[in-house]
Amino acid sequence: MKLILVGFGNVGRGLVRALVQKRNFFLKEHGMSCEIVAVVDGHGAVVDENGLSFRRLLRMVEEGNLIGSERKLGVEIIREVDADVVFELTPTNIKTGEPGLTHIKTAMRTGKSVITSNKGPLVVAFRELEELAKKRGVEFRYSASVGGAVPVIGLAKRILMGNEVLAIRGVLNGTTNYILTRMAQEDAPFDIVLKEAQELGIAEKDPSLDIQGIDTACKITILANSVLGIDAKLGEVKTKGISGVTPEAIRLAREAGFTVKLVGIASKRTLEVGPKLVPIHHPLAVSGTLNAVTFEVDLAREITISGFGAGPRETSSSLLGDLVDVYQAISQRG
Ligand SMILES: NC(=O)c1ccc[n+]([C@@H]2O[C@H](COP(=O)([O-])OP(=O)(O)OC[C@H]3O[C@@H](n4cnc5c(N)ncnc54)[C@H](OP(=O)(O)O)[C@@H]3O)[C@@H](O)[C@H]2O)c1
Repeated sequence: MKLILVGFGNVGRGLVRALVQKRNFFLKEHGMSCEIVAVVDGHGAVVDENGLSFRRLLRMVEEGNLIGSERKLGVEIIREVDADVVFELTPTNIKTGEPGLTHIKTAMRTGKSVITSNKGPLVVAFRELEELAKKRGVEFRYSASVGGAVPVIGLAKRILMGNEVLAIRGVLNGTTNYILTRMAQEDAPFDIVLKEAQELGIAEKDPSLDIQGIDTACKITILANSVLGIDAKLGEVKTKGISGVTPEAIRLAREAGFTVKLVGIASKRTLEVGPKLVPIHHPLAVSGTLNAVTFEVDLAREITISGFGAGPRETSSSLLGDLVDVYQAISQRG
């Protein structure tokens, strides 16, 4: 498999590290060998159509930049370089989907399969991208866009295939879950805990997308489209953040056997994000930066999974799962 990586930040570097580390495992377990033929960031690209050497790749990961790069754009590399799969790992823009949207469309139009962790293009153009992939006969996977390492989409679309998914409820944002957890532990107000989370690097300098619930709403939009088959738009998700949650509300909830979580809900009738009461012993009541998702389905009733919702190494778990899946799909086609 010849791979192009567009985006060489936290996730791109984590992916390179995991790919190099696990190359023998992939060959032995799945008969899949991989070469990275190009890596692109916002400043340039490095290309070797025979495969970049592992030593150079690891040096680039250590130094955090593309050694010996030439000034080329992602679209040019995607168009010009022969490859099977493009990993689209650029920053999320939920208004335009760019630059990821153009990268993904260019890849599909030049016959390349796409794997992405970028919510932007999915929120802006989910149906269009699914249809383009079908029309061009390429594979399209986006497991890492929801839940980080937690195999939310794979569980729903593959393992639970015999079930109808009736509703999805998820704690899908590690930053807000950390803040609510610390508020409960310390009986502390929202703004003090937010500052602590920013100092620890858990919350961004501008945490508005997280704390206003918009990041969770993006993930609910993606799940509604991909798992429930609803042509949902981000603007249709009724969204409320956590800045109005008080330590007193959390204390009262606890006395009644509940915890307060920022929960995203998707069903045929509801698309919603907001602070909700979750029974303390329910598996959705995860602590700290963990994510959790409960599927309500017709046969199995309720299934909940939880795990790490972000982090470069953790996210590479979903990206590499998608890669093996794409490899198997391409191999079956012959
Ligand atoms: N971090 C996580 O744990 C995580 C988990 C799940 C999903 N995600 C999603 O995965 C994506 C990547 O996240 P990240 O944490 O790796 O972000 P990041 O550290 O900000 O890295 C973004 C990378 O994209 C590059 N880039 C920006 N504009 C570009 C362009 N026009 N063409 C080519 N490359 C461009 C940047 O290059 P420059 O540095 O040159 O600008 C940088 O290498 C985001 O959409 C994020 O929401 C992240």
